[in-house]
Amino acid sequence: MYQDITHIKVNLIKNSYEVLVGSNTIYDIGFQLKQLKYSIGTKILVVTNPDVSKPYSSSFIKSIQNEGYEPRLLTIEAGEDQKTTESIALIHDAAYEHKLERGSLMIALGGGVIGDMVGFAAATWLRGISFIQVPTTLLSMVDASVGGKTGVNHPKGKNLIGAFHQPKLVLIDIDTLNTLPEREFRAGMAEIIKYGVIGDKELFEKLEEAKDLKNLESIDRNFLLEIITKSIKAKAKIVEKDEKENGLRATLNYGHTFGHVVEALSGYGKFLHGEAVSIGMVIAGQLSLQENLWSKAEAKRQNELLIKAGLPIKWPNLDEDLVLRSLRADKKVKDGHIRFILATEIGKVKLVNKIKEDQIYKLLSSLN
Ligand SMILES: NC(=O)c1ccc[n+]([C@@H]2O[C@H](COP(=O)([O-])OP(=O)(O)OC[C@H]3O[C@@H](n4cnc5c(N)ncnc54)[C@H](O)[C@@H]3O)[C@@H](O)[C@H]2O)c1
Ligand SMILES: [Zn+2]
Repeated sequence: MYQDITHIKVNLIKNSYEVLVGSNTIYDIGFQLKQLKYSIGTKILVVTNPDVSKPYSSSFIKSIQNEGYEPRLLTIEAGEDQKTTESIALIHDAAYEHKLERGSLMIALGGGVIGDMVGFAAATWLRGISFIQVPTTLLSMVDASVGGKTGVNHPKGKNLIGAFHQPKLVLIDIDTLNTLPEREFRAGMAEIIKYGVIGDKELFEKLEEAKDLKNLESIDRNFLLEIITKSIKAKAKIVEKDEKENGLRATLNYGHTFGHVVEALSGYGKFLHGEAVSIGMVIAGQLSLQENLWSKAEAKRQNELLIKAGLPIKWPNLDEDLVLRSLRADKKVKDGHIRFILATEIGKVKLVNKIKEDQIYKLLSSLN
C-alpha cells in the first residue's frame, strides 16, 4: 500500500523533514503520524476550507482517529482575502478550546492560503508548535508547502506578517487535484515551468516533450508525479542552501517581480498568482534577451511552454509610471537601478542589478 510513495528529504541544519508524494496518500495520514520520529501527543487541530473539507475531510479525520488521536476540524472560508490576522485568531481560539499543548500538532489541509496561515498560527501558538502540510493545489504542492515561509497579509500588503517555521512533514496526494478547478491547476503549472527555467533543464525538456499541460485529464499520472517530484527537489535544493533567504533563495522569484506588479495593479483577483508569474516570466525573458544573457530561441522556448500550459503571456497594458512606482515601493530599485533575476540559459539564472528604470519604461511602452 505504501511502496508507491516518493520520499524527498529537505535537509536543513535543524528541522529537516520529508516530503511524501504519491497517489491516494491522504487517507494514510493516521499511519504517517505514527511514523513521525517526534512525540506529538494525542490532540490535533486540522484546519481546512469548505472546498477541501467537502470531498476529503471526513475520511481524513477518520484516518487520524483510527490511530487513537483526537483530531478537531476547523473550517475557514476559502480565498486570499481570508489570509488575515483575524483567521489566525480563529485558529488560536480553536487551539485553546481543543487544549493544544507545546507538543501538540496542527495540520494544514488545503492550498497555499491554508498552509501559510496554519504554519503561522503554529509558529506563534505557545511560541511554536509542530505542524504538517497536506497541500491540495498544484501550486501549494510544488511551492507553498515546502520551505517554511508562513504568514498572512496586512491591509498594506501581501505576506507582511510572517515567520519562518518548517513543517514536520509534507504529505502530497496528487489525487486531490481531481477536484481542483482547471484554472488553478494551470496556475500551479507556471511555477513548475519556472523551476525548469531557473534550475532544471531536464525538467524543462520533459515539459516540452509532453503532449499537453493544460489540464489534469490530458496528463499521464506518472508524468505528473515526476514533474511534481522534480519541482519539489529543485525548491528543496535551494531552500537547503539558503533557508532564510539571504541570497540564492531569491532565484525562486524569477518572473515574480513583474508578476507581483501585474497582480497588484490589475486588482488582486483578476490574475491568479501563477498567471501573473507567467506574464512576469515573459518580461524577465525579454530583459534577459536585451541584456544578451540568453538567445531569442531560448526566450521563445520558454514562452511556448507557457502557452502550451494555457497560461497568459500578454502584458496587460499597465501604465508605465504606475509600474515603476510599484517596483520602487517593492524595494526592487536602488539608485535608479532595478534588481532582477534573469535567465542566462534554460536551467540557469542570475541576479542582475544594473537594469535602468528607463529601460523598463521603454520595454513596457513597446508592449502597450
Ligand atoms: N509559503 C510560501 O513559500 C508560498 C509560496 C507560494 C505561494 N504562497 C501563498 O499561497 C497562496 C496561494 O496558494 P494557492 O494557489 O494554493 O491558493 P488557495 O489556497 O487560495 O487555493 C486556490 C483555490 O482552490 C481551492 N482548492 C484548494 N484545493 C482544492 C482541491 N483539492 N479541490 C478543490 N478546490 C481546492 C481553494 O479553496 C481556493 O479557492 C498565496 O497566499 C501565496 O502567498 C506561499
Ligand atoms: Zn510564486
